[in-house]
Amino acid sequence: MESSRKADPTVIVIFGAGGDLAWRKLIPAIYNLYLDQWIPKNFAVLGVGRTEMTDTSFRKHLHEGVDSFSRRGKSKKNEWAAFSKCLSYHQGDFKDASVYQNLEKQLQTFEKTWKTPVTRVFYLAVPPVFFEEIAGKIGSSGLAKNKSMSRIVVEKPFGHDLESAKRLNELVHQIFHESQVYRIDHYLGKETVQNILAFRFANALFEPIWNRNYIDHVQITVAEQLGVENRGNYYETAGALRDMIQNHILQLLCLIAMEPPVSFEADEVRNRKVDVLNALRRIRHEDVHAYAVRGQYGPGWIEGKKVKGYRQEPDVNKNSNKETFAAVKFFIDNWRWQDVPVYVRTGKRMNETVSVITIQFRPVPHRSFPAEATENWQPNRIVMSIQPHMGIKLSFQAKRPGLKMQIAPVDMSFDYKDSYTTGTPEAYETLLLDVMLGDTTLFMRADQVEAAWSVLMPVIETWEANKSVHFPNYAAGMQGPSDAEGLIAKDGHNWIG
Ligand code: BG6
Repeated sequence: MESSRKADPTVIVIFGAGGDLAWRKLIPAIYNLYLDQWIPKNFAVLGVGRTEMTDTSFRKHLHEGVDSFSRRGKSKKNEWAAFSKCLSYHQGDFKDASVYQNLEKQLQTFEKTWKTPVTRVFYLAVPPVFFEEIAGKIGSSGLAKNKSMSRIVVEKPFGHDLESAKRLNELVHQIFHESQVYRIDHYLGKETVQNILAFRFANALFEPIWNRNYIDHVQITVAEQLGVENRGNYYETAGALRDMIQNHILQLLCLIAMEPPVSFEADEVRNRKVDVLNALRRIRHEDVHAYAVRGQYGPGWIEGKKVKGYRQEPDVNKNSNKETFAAVKFFIDNWRWQDVPVYVRTGKRMNETVSVITIQFRPVPHRSFPAEATENWQPNRIVMSIQPHMGIKLSFQAKRPGLKMQIAPVDMSFDYKDSYTTGTPEAYETLLLDVMLGDTTLFMRADQVEAAWSVLMPVIETWEANKSVHFPNYAAGMQGPSDAEGLIAKDGHNWIG
């Protein structure tokens, strides 16, 4: 495939290049961009990390990562050999000023060799404790002094709560202008997630009914069969609310609920999304029990295999009170969505891995058919499958063939795998290319991050102040705690899918 948008000469400096993210996601994504000819001719990746590695061992390590995780499968020998020349490694401590001086020298060497200034991308693929140190040193060393040519990419979690997110934003803004900051939420790079906007705003059919007059409620489910794996340390400080709802799920909610943007300019799209976050009703601390449910998995079975409970996972406190499941009912206080509940839920060690958004429409105002014809009646429904299945399904009523009038729901389906033969880029491919091109549309702006924290703070604070005495309250391999059913059942609904 020949690309039409080419980035300027670029060097990506990855802090934490010896870690999991670079190994599993970043380098496989950059490699696929290279194969698809999106990478500029003058391009390099400088890895920085504390692990001792030479350029050769760094490349070998990344080669294994690409072979294991690239969407194209194992790399071809000659293609990898050509690509890997652009990879080099600098071992050093993030606190050490000389690391940054060496980077400056290296970047200047590239500029001399290529006879052109380069876009400098600083990618912080490190735990949050290092953010301040690294961002500060990038600033004080002058590495980012050319504001139009330097960008910083920050992984989630962006802050631990509203206060810390504000502090971090202030610090980052001392060095970088907001337009240079790329806060990653990898969900926004997923094909199916980007398609939500196309579905809503490139079709005349849906937008006129996309409101409280026609929509009964919305559901967002992001379920995973995986447990916390080897991330116990991190997860003990996070939990499901911080790990999934504050970012990925609230972003999905924004895409479903936002007003049509006037253009696809980055700030226009982000303004419309932040409007939704600002309109989300703040749950009062004393009402949290009526709007939010938490759970923690105990031992159980996943696909016939016995698995541990959360409290038995490595690096997890034996009496941990962290939630591995959360469900919240939101309301959006604006003209379009007043009184339409949006139910969201997410959990680890659930019965299946699935991310899906359901738009449930209201029933027809009057059923003219005889009662016996409509036993299987079901109001219209749009189901957007984000992953692993990728597609959109519209359910509507149809007459069953036969001599009797019998009405039952049928589906009209769009399935990526039936409609397209081209491979689907990974979220990180889309996002890394956007960073190189300087397009911030799919990244979180400072005010978005803060608004998302502010929505969740009452729930976070209430749960932290009141420990659950029921944990663990769902067995691994189940659909979460029974209270989650109650949350939605008391409004007369049930979780779909
Ligand atoms: C990450 C969370 O942001 O998203 C993980 O920290 C979660 O806990 C992951 O497993 C899910 O991402 P995906 O792309 O596999 O749905």
